[in-house]
Amino acid sequence: MKLDARLEAVLRFARPGAHLFDVGCDHGKLAIAAAERGISASVTASDINSAPLDAAKANASRAGVSLAFALCDGIPSRALELVKAGAPVDIVVAGMGGENIINMLSAVPGEAENLRLILLPHSKQPEVRRFLADSGFFFDEEAVIVEDGKIYQIITAKRGGFFPLTRLEELLGVRNLTYGRPEVLVLAKHLHSASVAAREGRRSAGLCTAEQDRDIEALEVYL
Ligand SMILES: C[S@@+](CC[C@H](N)C(=O)[O-])C[C@H]1O[C@@H](n2cnc3c(N)ncnc32)[C@H](O)[C@@H]1O
Repeated sequence: MKLDARLEAVLRFARPGAHLFDVGCDHGKLAIAAAERGISASVTASDINSAPLDAAKANASRAGVSLAFALCDGIPSRALELVKAGAPVDIVVAGMGGENIINMLSAVPGEAENLRLILLPHSKQPEVRRFLADSGFFFDEEAVIVEDGKIYQIITAKRGGFFPLTRLEELLGVRNLTYGRPEVLVLAKHLHSASVAAREGRRSAGLCTAEQDRDIEALEVYL
């Protein structure tokens, strides 16, 4: 199964020998590619809707791979059982809004030393990072992918301690800031322009711009 750069980057974070759950699998491409490559101990594709899950089943059968499927809202109960038992589990949630991701992560148990979250929220990335930091996760790895003029942020996290984030870390990611890769600069410039445009819009509507002022100030320190 050929993956685009975004899903290829997500799959690179899957740990060999872990049980991989692709939550919100839609077409199932990521789960099928994982099963084909034999990276994971097991692969499960799940979705809240039966139409995408049926499409994923058909795609898996065409590709001749065997994987498990679950029709459910959020993280499948089998994943939570494995996490509680201390088994290595990778939970991928890609291509969903940040609020949806935050809602489903509240099901993750406190004891989860062997869990890796691999997240690609398509909105509210700073809120997802804040939620993770406030819930006792640390940032394992992060990446910024620029593909077809779009910017994607991958956040991976594991349980282990509470580390409050600065606003710049919420916006750009602790690991991204450490690595200082060129695509992080692209993200920073994009967020800066978006905040400046949002501030102008709010100013002309007579609305408070404190949030935009704070983000612009934080990003200008980096830029
Ligand atoms: C835009 S698609 C993303 C597909 C794939 N993960 C990707 O990144 O290409 C979002 C999928 O998430 C599913 N979804 C949305 N909310 C969900 C939830 N709470 N639990 C499980 N699946 C959900 C939708 O049905 C849809 O198939």
